[in-house]
Parts: sequence; structure tokens; C-alpha cells
Amino acid sequence: MRTLEIHGSTGVSTILVGERLQNLKRYIPAGKAVIITDKNVLHLYQKDFPSYEVIKIESNEKIKNLDTVRYIYGKLVELEADRSTFIIGIGGGIVCDIAGFVASTYLRGVRFGFVSSTLLSQVDASVGGKNGVNFEGYKNMIGVFNQPEFVICDLNLLNTLPEKEILCGMAEIVKHAAIGDPDLFAYLEEHYQEALAPDIGVIEKLVYDSVVIKSAIVNRDEKEKGERRKLNFGHTFGHAIEKTTGVPHGEAVSAGMVMASALSVKRGHLQAKDAERIKKLLQKLKLPTRLQADRKTVLDALQKDKKRKGDSIYFVLLNKIGNPFVDQISIKELEDVIYDLCY
Ligand code: GLY
Repeated sequence: MRTLEIHGSTGVSTILVGERLQNLKRYIPAGKAVIITDKNVLHLYQKDFPSYEVIKIESNEKIKNLDTVRYIYGKLVELEADRSTFIIGIGGGIVCDIAGFVASTYLRGVRFGFVSSTLLSQVDASVGGKNGVNFEGYKNMIGVFNQPEFVICDLNLLNTLPEKEILCGMAEIVKHAAIGDPDLFAYLEEHYQEALAPDIGVIEKLVYDSVVIKSAIVNRDEKEKGERRKLNFGHTFGHAIEKTTGVPHGEAVSAGMVMASALSVKRGHLQAKDAERIKKLLQKLKLPTRLQADRKTVLDALQKDKKRKGDSIYFVLLNKIGNPFVDQISIKELEDVIYDLCY
């Protein structure tokens, strides 16, 4: 097991890569605790849960909203959860985001931690302290910054993940490599077959290296005033595509990274051969590099982006693999890229 720390304004978060769900109880203070999880995880792993009360939710993006939050508050009241109750989210990004938001707001905030059960949540969603829900078509519009006390990344839980879910995590790993670590990028180019197998030794390195990159950025800019925006590489187009087409997050981000790389080349920052490397690596990892989407609807979704500032959007471009920067790009310029790259 390897550990890393995030030092947030609300406390320290310890990320435990390679720890097991079976050891979860060691990290929970004595007293009452409540587990929030989804039906799938409960079905597969309840046998390994410590014996606390469980609140069960669905796990699709549609339930990531205030109705589900309200439902959980109701259950917590029923269970007589008080200020000393510890909340544990066990699941993927949706469960952890909701559990973190509920824990941060119930009784003005109770202690909480996560067991992250998907590759996507281990490398991205459960790490970083953003907890929130969608609101009326706006992604993650309502939420808080609050660090979980711990995040257990149990690699064994990945064994039951469908390939499509592994691929989604791979897209975020490529993103971390593209913005933060050219050596990790080269490693992926060489070891993509083992990564897809999936070989747990290779996956452990990919999870750990991703968390190193993300936690270093979050440690420097927890509240996303500047540098943390770099973690949005591929996400501005990605979120718009995801919302419009309903494709999984990782697939949308993959196509989004290709678009952001193309824009970086077009503006004279990134060499075309490096944009090609990014595209090739995504293809090797069986991720889409182009998606069929209605251009006008994508554009409308882009206009609703949280990062929008007047007629422009904070946008992440690359100078090189491992060297990103943030610029304000006009909606008009993004529109041109959408017309070139969506079909
Ligand atoms: N919880 C996800 C993040 O903070 O980025």
C-alpha cells in the first residue's frame, strides 16, 4: 500500500492506494457510522462491509441531484444520526460525490471518508475535495469543497468492473499524464496492453501516479482559483459532449482531449506530432477520438459551462505533453473547433 496526503483548508485527506475494503473499520472512529453505497456495490461486496447501517442509492448520473440528497437526509434522521456519526461513501464517483455533499451539510457537517470502487473514481472523482450534485441540467452546480478524511483505493474492487468502466478511468489517467507527467505518458504508450488486461501491478502504478499529479495540484490550489483548472483538460468539450450525447464521461473526455489538442496545434502551441501521440494513445486504449454529436446542441451546452466568463471560457491548452496552460478562449473560436471535429 502507498499513501499520499492532500492538505485542504478543511483538513488533511489521506489517499490509501492498495488498501483493502476489508480493513475499512481501522479508519473509522469508535461510535456510530453510516455507509452510503449503490445497489451494485452492495450486491458484490456487502460481505466485506463492516457492520454499520447502510443507505442504498442508485448509481447513474440522473440521480446525482438534490432529490437523492433529500432522500439520504431523511434516512439519516430516521437512523438518528447525530454530529458524532461518521459517514462512509463506498462506490464510484456518483456515490462519493453525493456522500461527501451529504456529510458536509447534514447538521452543518459530519466526518466522512470514501472507499473508491471504480478506476475513474480512484484516479479522479473521489480525490480532491469537491463534493456536489447536478442542478437543472448544470453539472456539479451545487456543492462544497471539503476533504474526506481518507480515500481507500482498493484495487481488488476493479476486478468486477466491466471493460467500459476501466476505459473511462483510462481517459482520466491519460489526462493526468498529458498535463503533468511526460514519463507516465510514455509508460502508457508502452504498457497499454497490460493496462487493459488489466494487470493489477500496472494499474497500481497508474492510480498512484495519477493521484500524485492530482494531489500536488490540489495542494497548491484547492479552490480552483488558477492552477487547478489544468485538471479540466479535455473536460470543457467533454462535458458538453457528455451532456448532449449521454456517452460515458471517460469517452466524452477522450474526444474532448483530442479537440483541445487540435485547438492547441491550431493556435501554434502544440506540435502536430504530439497531438497525434495523444490521439494514438487514446485509440490504443480503445477510447473514441471523435464522437457523433449535434454541433448546435454541443455549442448550446458549452454556453452553459461553469467556467464561462462573458463571451469566453477558461480553457486548458497544451504547449507540450506534460506542459499545459490556461487561456481564455472565445466561444466563437470553440465553435469553429466543434464544427471541424464533431460530425
Ligand atoms: N472530488 C473530485 C474532485 O475534487 O476533483
